[in-house]
Amino acid sequence: MQPSLTIRRPDDWHLHLRDGAMLAAVLPESARHFARAIIMPNLVPPVVTGVHARAYRDRIMAALPGGMDFTPLMTLYLTEETDPDDVAAAHADGLITAVKLYPAGATTNSASGVRDFDRVRGVLEKMAEIGLPLCVHGEVTDPEVDIFDREAAFIDRVLDPIRRATPGLRVVMEHVTTSDAVAYVTSQDRDLAATITTHHLVINRNHILVGGIKPHYYCLPVAKREAHRLALRAAATSGDARFFLGTDSAPHTDPLKESACGCAGCFTATNTLSILAHVFEEEGALDRLEGFTSLNGPAFYGLPPNEARITLTRGDPVPYPDKIDTGDGPVTVFDPGFPLHWQVG
Ligand code: NCD
Ligand code: ZN
Repeated sequence: MQPSLTIRRPDDWHLHLRDGAMLAAVLPESARHFARAIIMPNLVPPVVTGVHARAYRDRIMAALPGGMDFTPLMTLYLTEETDPDDVAAAHADGLITAVKLYPAGATTNSASGVRDFDRVRGVLEKMAEIGLPLCVHGEVTDPEVDIFDREAAFIDRVLDPIRRATPGLRVVMEHVTTSDAVAYVTSQDRDLAATITTHHLVINRNHILVGGIKPHYYCLPVAKREAHRLALRAAATSGDARFFLGTDSAPHTDPLKESACGCAGCFTATNTLSILAHVFEEEGALDRLEGFTSLNGPAFYGLPPNEARITLTRGDPVPYPDKIDTGDGPVTVFDPGFPLHWQVG
């Protein structure tokens, strides 16, 4: 008999679905395996109000193929103009699950993000009061700070001060890429959690730069040195409930990636679960995969875990497409660099 593993249906706690033709093409790639996902609001223009979030949720549901079961968990993009009452009303209506903080200029479509953190204090205090989590892109944007140090600097300069100034604020440090972030999260109380992407468990910065530049491995926060990747693998497979999956699957068309100024983002929705099963098996932690993909996230967000189950089976290498076609152009699927033997279903 082939080895198999049955787990509760996973959720993705950080996902970019985009809009229009791209949304229509990438949504089934996530909905095939994931029951719910935290939907990133960095559209152009961004999703900043409850009205925007409702309209975007409606577009996502309209794009969902019949028969697929998927619930988008919406977020608002925090700006210096965000109205605390609008946020509270959207939360009370069950429309949003989190608010997203992008430091201005930190990543793709983040120009409307926060420059002066004092200007969002009222929103953060309201969120602490109503128990609405803040999802944080944890990188400073100071041009003086080396890109490989931007996450570690963010912890000291921004994240820790915000958390001290706003007791009770629940924070998800997203797509952590460093041992510094892992150490910070594990040293704090249960109001802080972290998501880890699939690709950061697989690649380090050599994968991007050695033997020629590999634009499809370029994402933000950028992959760091090997010691950091190993720290992420240890955290993800540790069973510590503060770490859970947020794929940060971020589609950009090939011309936008393979360019003199290529966009940041790895598209992993299609093969994420096969890759994760491979990683957890390598770490001798297959029994902890369900916690990472299906239990820890709901527990942090105060949601029930999914009742449905999926089964992963180990066998011959699973063929995945190199690219998926979208109405906007081809999108390259993340290549882990090794054959994948675990298949869903
Ligand atoms: C994301 C995107 O393309 O929207 N890119 C990325 O490299 N992760 C933005 C983000 O989450 O930083
Ligand atoms: Zn992202």
